[in-house]
Amino acid sequence: MRFLFSLFLVSAMAFSQTREIIIDTDPGVDDAFALLLALRSPELEILAVTVVAGNVPSSVGLPNALRMVEIGGRPQTPVAVGAAQPLTRRAVHAYYAHGSNGLGDVPFPEPSIKPVSENAVELIRRLVREKPGKVSIVTLGPLTNIALALRADPDLARMIPRVVMMGGSLSGGNTTPSAEFNFYFDPEAAHVIFHSGIPLVMVGLDVTQKARLQEEHVRAMENGGTPASEAAGKLGRSWMNRAKAMGRTDGFGMHDPLAMAVFMDPSIVTLKKYYVDIETTGELTAGETVAWQSAPVRISAPPDGVTQSEVRAQKLEPNVEVAVAVDSPKFFQLLLGRLTSK
Ligand code: RIB
Ligand code: CA
Repeated sequence: MRFLFSLFLVSAMAFSQTREIIIDTDPGVDDAFALLLALRSPELEILAVTVVAGNVPSSVGLPNALRMVEIGGRPQTPVAVGAAQPLTRRAVHAYYAHGSNGLGDVPFPEPSIKPVSENAVELIRRLVREKPGKVSIVTLGPLTNIALALRADPDLARMIPRVVMMGGSLSGGNTTPSAEFNFYFDPEAAHVIFHSGIPLVMVGLDVTQKARLQEEHVRAMENGGTPASEAAGKLGRSWMNRAKAMGRTDGFGMHDPLAMAVFMDPSIVTLKKYYVDIETTGELTAGETVAWQSAPVRISAPPDGVTQSEVRAQKLEPNVEVAVAVDSPKFFQLLLGRLTSK
């Protein structure tokens, strides 16, 4: 009897540690890795997967999200499509990095599950309002859906306990020299979130470029013996082949799966608080994440004369925790462990 009670207690404790999340994504090869990691992690209660335009149009990302939800073994997870365009700009997709189907041209079968009819932005609003303070959001793509939800319902900002985002960089961009792709695609949406007051964790290129998928990882996925690891192995192999064709031997940064892993175990990275703002007017720099720690001046020299006090960087309270270092082996141990778990 005592054994059964302790078994119940352990499972109840595990259940009590279940963490409710919404995953917003633009799948994308690395998004697919992140989705599979989350879907194979029983401590995560995935309330919804919401699709946003980014790597590929949302019409391409939606079936990819459905495919991963099905392969990941949680077909009942609500999947909804949201923004098809950035808030104000023309969409500049990244087929060059993710292939024509958004999944590295790996020929995954058509999904047999269907999306929900509710728009992603409405679904986000409803789920957050149903459980104020309980539903975190992990964003793997441009922040358009989240920005639209906040614009439609500003009170949401105080109901979201945390947004862990893949995006930004304090060490240069991967799309322009200044901007990382997710914030390059929709700088205005990123600006809304960085000024929302929501507790933010920014998992940017500073760390994701140091968590690089290598041949040994792909082999472990290919030999993992589960549908999730088999799918991940196909995605990884397509990426390694693409790297080889490009003459690259340093693998690929695991951008989105690292962001997902940081939500699950923040000890995988070192976090540092900064005040970060988003450049939205630069012809060359729009989407850049600009961080202040001790710089004395807040803005560029204005064209017309304004007082010195208006340009000085008054005390800028930190608004985001930025990942500045990563334990890459610990990340891959978590990723491979979950993908190969039966
Ligand atoms: O810059 C990398 C990010 O942009 C990743 O989320 C990738 O999937 C793309 O969306
Ligand atoms: Ca992405």
